[in-house]
Amino acid sequence: MRCTKCRQDACLEIRRHNAAFCEACFLGFFRDQVVRAVEHEKMFRRDEPVLVAVSGGKDSLALWDALLELGYETTGFYIGLGIPGYSEPSREKCETFAAARDAKLLIVDLEAEYGLGISETAQRTRRPACSACGLSKRYLFNKVAMDHGFGVIATGHNLDDEAATLFGNVLRWQTGYLGRQAPVLPEENGLVKKVKPLFRLAERETAAYAILRGIDYIVDECPNAVGAKSLFYKDLLNQLEAASPGSKQAFLMGFLEHAQPLFHAQEEVALHPCERCGQPTTTPLCAFCRLREEVARPLQRRGRGRRAKRWPGPRPTPPAPLPLREGGEDGPTLPAPIPDREGGVPEARWSALPLLVKEKEDRALAEPAPPFPDREGGRGG
Ligand code: AMP
Ligand code: FES
Ligand code: ZN
Repeated sequence: MRCTKCRQDACLEIRRHNAAFCEACFLGFFRDQVVRAVEHEKMFRRDEPVLVAVSGGKDSLALWDALLELGYETTGFYIGLGIPGYSEPSREKCETFAAARDAKLLIVDLEAEYGLGISETAQRTRRPACSACGLSKRYLFNKVAMDHGFGVIATGHNLDDEAATLFGNVLRWQTGYLGRQAPVLPEENGLVKKVKPLFRLAERETAAYAILRGIDYIVDECPNAVGAKSLFYKDLLNQLEAASPGSKQAFLMGFLEHAQPLFHAQEEVALHPCERCGQPTTTPLCAFCRLREEVARPLQRRGRGRRAKRWPGPRPTPPAPLPLREGGEDGPTLPAPIPDREGGVPEARWSALPLLVKEKEDRALAEPAPPFPDREGGRGG
């Protein structure tokens, strides 16, 4: 296969654009997509300092690398979440990345600075870890950006993340979330502007960029993400994409153009400063301060009012699980798995990349989503 731009051997095919690229042209394509997002969506100016939230994963480090290469003024921001076996290596990836580029990296440790390590908080409050984590990240993104004088914070959310979030929100018609799902959330009422410059790029493209640029990123998913609905939705959308390239992008871009403004118009939320910390909230105390209070409360009082709702009579028998892809005897027939999925890494497309790269990539992208997850993935922007 030849590169669409220069006719040399291609190393990556991008079916939704009906294109294939060699290494150099792919890096150019990737950066063009970032610039297009930043400029077209008016995310930030060339000379405007941007705080880039980095997790140590491929997306956010690829984003930071691309912005640095493009000459934007960036500072990295890493939150130590206190997840054993995951947070330490993630932090090291961010530190190594920043040191190699002589870039500034801010680090906040949730455990040390707020007593809110995610694993312990989840245990003590009996919340799902991802809920405490999402809440803490949103809070710190805003607070740290404000405290350090940044008017804008960028995250590494990509096209697959955004399409999966949209899918989940549409499935349950979460109109509030739909109104706030956008590549740019403007500054308002004490909230700094939030932007997603990778929203035009698919996950396998951010992985390819990170690998081709020699970025050492953390390949493993957060252990708490196992079973997350968002991974299941990504898998479904990848099957659709394989059968009909461009569906994912059409789904997201169509929503942003035609539907998001309608949901956004219905959204009027009055924010005011938290009585304790001054961060914007709709309640007297913000969710983060309430979480801290909950964690600090003595054990015997914790958990009140959190008991599972009881059924008035005997529990109804749950329906038999639907077969995931093959029709069972009684269940509906669902389509057979589609081979060569977009999210997977078909052999031929990657053969031009070194073996080592492929091995890392296979692990990063080709792991199947587990069936029937029971936990909520992150939603909304
Ligand atoms: P996630 O919610 O884990 O899918 O991450 C989405 C984006 O949030 C990433 O691309 C990063 O930009 C940012 N992010 C996630 N985890 C962290 C972290 N520990 N510190 C700073 N930013 C993070
Ligand atoms: Fe937040 Fe996994 S990154 S719980
Ligand atoms: Zn507060």
